[in-house]
Amino acid sequence: MAKEKEEKGEKEYKLTDIPGIGPGIAVKLEASGIYDLMGLAVISPSDLAELAGVGTAVARKAIQAARGMMKLGFTDGAEFDRKRKDIIYITTGSKNFNDLLGGKGIESKSMTEAYGAFGSGKTQLGLTLAVNVQLPKDKGGANGKAVYVDTEGTFRPDRIRQIAEGIGANPEKVLKNILIARAFNSDHQILLIDKITELIKNGEPIKLVVIDSLTAHFRAEFSGRGQLADRQQRLNRYLHQLMKLAEQHNLAVYVTNQVMSNPAMMFGDPTTAIGGHIVGHASTYRIYLRRGKAGSRVAKMIDSPNLPENEAQFFVTGAGIRDEG
Ligand code: GTP
Ligand code: MG
Repeated sequence: MAKEKEEKGEKEYKLTDIPGIGPGIAVKLEASGIYDLMGLAVISPSDLAELAGVGTAVARKAIQAARGMMKLGFTDGAEFDRKRKDIIYITTGSKNFNDLLGGKGIESKSMTEAYGAFGSGKTQLGLTLAVNVQLPKDKGGANGKAVYVDTEGTFRPDRIRQIAEGIGANPEKVLKNILIARAFNSDHQILLIDKITELIKNGEPIKLVVIDSLTAHFRAEFSGRGQLADRQQRLNRYLHQLMKLAEQHNLAVYVTNQVMSNPAMMFGDPTTAIGGHIVGHASTYRIYLRRGKAGSRVAKMIDSPNLPENEAQFFVTGAGIRDEG
């Protein structure tokens, strides 16, 4: 993979590869949430000067160098199309839900976030995707394996067996293709990214990474007054690592997120996603899940680069996510 990238002239650079940025400055920048060329490319010279403790001339040069090394700019239409062509899709199991997502399900090289109250179906969708990713491409899968990072201890092998049976697959085989890790705290959760990269380098055909829940540990560990900025910074960094994983290895990332009630809001649904804007910006597709009529669930597209803010009705069934209950 790295080799392939180098051949295309897309070598992975580190902050310290930029003229004027030594290890000391790199540490300072990383502490401020800037840890790669993209972070440098989008900051202003005066902000960088302040963060790094260097003059604006040095800062400006560093930013220009970062932009140059990243080849920021335009891609011709054919190249853009070629890059989009290898996108793969994983069916949710519900046509309605797939349609909400543009027709085929969640997609690779992007992150899909589902947030909603307890019991809204976030975990059930994750489990269903972990099974469906194993389907052949013409059946709505990616012919791949799933990684399931479980922060809450809610992963149930029996539930996977049941969903597998629902699509007529061999339950034991399906279970073997899901690599589960229990993350005990946010540090552990972050470390697991490296483990996932290692698995892929060792040839595991991982096409889906589920993080259930993305925010629970961060929320519990950084709950004190004055810790919000720290939490957001760590979360931001983690989200970028996840996005990078998705882009570099052409895999889909699905994350779940809790909501906190917002008593100040008097109309509509008084809930907001944890992590707020930070998570919202990083997610390519943001979906709000809630309970609907007669045992149904409703998914609402909240934020997407190319899709309308529609709603879709679906059901959580014994066989996973379906159009009908
Ligand atoms: P939290 O993790 O608590 O925030 O909630 P969540 O959004 O992850 O909820 P989850 O996806 O676990 O949804 C739980 C709901 O799914 C249950 O209340 C059931 O309604 C439904 N469900 C779970 N398992 C089954 C099953 O085997 N059969 C059916 N029919 N429904 C199920
Ligand atoms: Mg859950």
